[in-house]
Amino acid sequence: MQVFHRKSELTNFLNSQITDFKTIGFVPTMGALHSGHLSLIQNSLKNNALTVVSIFVNPTQFNNSEDLKKYPRTLEKDIEKINTLSDKIILYAPSVEDIYEKKIESTAFNFDGIENQMEGKHRPGHFDGVGTIVKKLFEIIQPTRAYFGEKDFQQLQIVKKMVSKEKLPVKIIGCEILREPNGLAMSSRNERLSKETRQNAAIIYSFLQKAKVLFKTKSAQEILNLAKKTFQTNPYFELEYFEISDEEKLLPCLRKNKSKKYRAFIAVYVEGIRLIDNISLTE
Ligand code: PAF
Repeated sequence: MQVFHRKSELTNFLNSQITDFKTIGFVPTMGALHSGHLSLIQNSLKNNALTVVSIFVNPTQFNNSEDLKKYPRTLEKDIEKINTLSDKIILYAPSVEDIYEKKIESTAFNFDGIENQMEGKHRPGHFDGVGTIVKKLFEIIQPTRAYFGEKDFQQLQIVKKMVSKEKLPVKIIGCEILREPNGLAMSSRNERLSKETRQNAAIIYSFLQKAKVLFKTKSAQEILNLAKKTFQTNPYFELEYFEISDEEKLLPCLRKNKSKKYRAFIAVYVEGIRLIDNISLTE
């Protein structure tokens, strides 16, 4: 594996490798890699001549400094995991200075309102930080395709919106959520849960599955009420939001419209750790 810590070295290398017909697949990550990330990398390996993975804990997308401090940083282990897939992967693991130079700040984006829903409402500035880093990484790597997990579905829609508004020459590929055996969506944050809570967290996906069944006959509001009741009576999990929204604009579903696709989205706190998940309701 080739590991680069500086953008100048990475771009020199990529320029020396790339000829007209070579495609670059790109998987941006913040490290603490799990099987979900590895499946994104496998998708990229299948469909591109070169695969670049980035590992960078991006400070501008954290609205909580404690969360940024505690975010797991496990570069050596991550390298071992990537090496199990292929020894041809190119890893970019920059420092904060290499990316932001002297100004650690984000650009203000207009994502046509998607940024004001759910994660955007509860994590002010988060999507400006995501847009800023993803755009910077696209400029450095110039990928043909970039791979994002559907666990962060709102992030995926934000990145698609940025690419379409700014006419960036990259195809965004959304990849399905990978789950632990009990249904918990894979996430780097799961490592911070106690063994018992990690098991109990099965409630998140089981409620989403229930919502999917109920959505056939019940209104979104009725399911929202049930979500509140279910989590209020659970002493361990605190519900931050549960929403049923259309997939495109992520606006709450007030009345079902047959021509739209809907998803249920959830964010909960458990042991001080924030977990998110979602499920398609109309597929
Ligand atoms: O999903 C993530 O891990 C991050 O938000 C991303 C896309 C790597 C940007 O920092």
